[in-house]
Amino acid sequence: RQNERESLYIILNFAKSFYQETLTHTEEGQSIGLSYFRERGFTNPTIEAFELGYSLDQWGALLEEAQRKGYNTALLEKAGLVLAKDGGKVYDRFRGRVIFPIHNVAGRVIAFGARILKTDKSQPKYINSPETEVYHKSQVLYGIFQAKQTIRQEDVCYLTEGYTDVISLYQAGIKNVVASSGTSLTIEQIRLISRFTQNVTILYDGDAAGIKAALRGLDMVLEEGLNVSVATFPDGDDPDSYVRKVGAEAFRDHLRRHTLDFITFKADALLREAGDNPFKRAEVIAEVVGSIVKIPDPIKRQVFFRTTSQQLQVDEQTLISEGN
Ligand code: GTP
Ligand code: MN
Ligand code: MN
Ligand code: MN
Ligand code: MN
Repeated sequence: RQNERESLYIILNFAKSFYQETLTHTEEGQSIGLSYFRERGFTNPTIEAFELGYSLDQWGALLEEAQRKGYNTALLEKAGLVLAKDGGKVYDRFRGRVIFPIHNVAGRVIAFGARILKTDKSQPKYINSPETEVYHKSQVLYGIFQAKQTIRQEDVCYLTEGYTDVISLYQAGIKNVVASSGTSLTIEQIRLISRFTQNVTILYDGDAAGIKAALRGLDMVLEEGLNVSVATFPDGDDPDSYVRKVGAEAFRDHLRRHTLDFITFKADALLREAGDNPFKRAEVIAEVVGSIVKIPDPIKRQVFFRTTSQQLQVDEQTLISEGN
């Protein structure tokens, strides 16, 4: 087992280097992959910090190089790098895409995300490595290796949706950023963050889906005792597009002015949805109290009962008894 994991790390590292080499030292890599990253505003140091790469638009570029180097094809398949057709013929998983290596907390490459260059409806925008011996999607946060030191220093972790949010913010000097990569947050991911800080600010996309995602799954984070806040962005923007639009200074300022603690954010969002309907407002109260009672610290709970009683226009004692 241990040996096999070690072999997987080695072959994944080989693949990472191959994709990097392809990006910087081939005609196709430069004219397609590198110019794509340039259009997104990524500089060379950023590309290097995240070890970004490119996979040629061919069926066997990685496979052939791996075979030349003597790597076992079965191991390539176990690493999720190649796939076998019904007839047994093997081909590269990632073709004609820019490559985002996914690192574990120790900095080893455990998987890849790969983006097509032009979005069209016929192909998924991103494809990812499958679950393997060393890659358990639910336990990983993209960017944690690059972010962990700053998360500790700043004592807050910014949680985004996507690879490019992490990278653009890092380039703007905001390095305490990780991404859940489009899935809802898991308990393992929360425990990973809590090794470095107790404070999480959610920076989800400024669309209805982003806000829904922010409301989902966060009770679990409260239960773990973390302090959760939410920052919102204009509809249609995500942290990547917003920081490129306004720059690092204005982005930090936006965070200062548009961050709410999770309970207030949730009450606010639900109240807006409920409008004047008293039945719906009553449901909102129950829902918000449901979140408050998940907070393990009784003093924090008390504070939230007080602040939300004003927000929900219900007296504090009624809220507290609702929570019992
Ligand atoms: P860009 O369009 O490159 O800026 O990416 P994004 O990160 O803004 O993408 P989006 O907000 O649409 O999705 C957030 C994250 O969800 C992505 O970074 C991916 O990790 C994941 N994701 C998005 N689309 C797909 C997809 O088609 N398949 C898979 N497996 N994951 C996806
Ligand atoms: Mn395992
Ligand atoms: Mn989105
Ligand atoms: Mn996005
Ligand atoms: Mn984006």
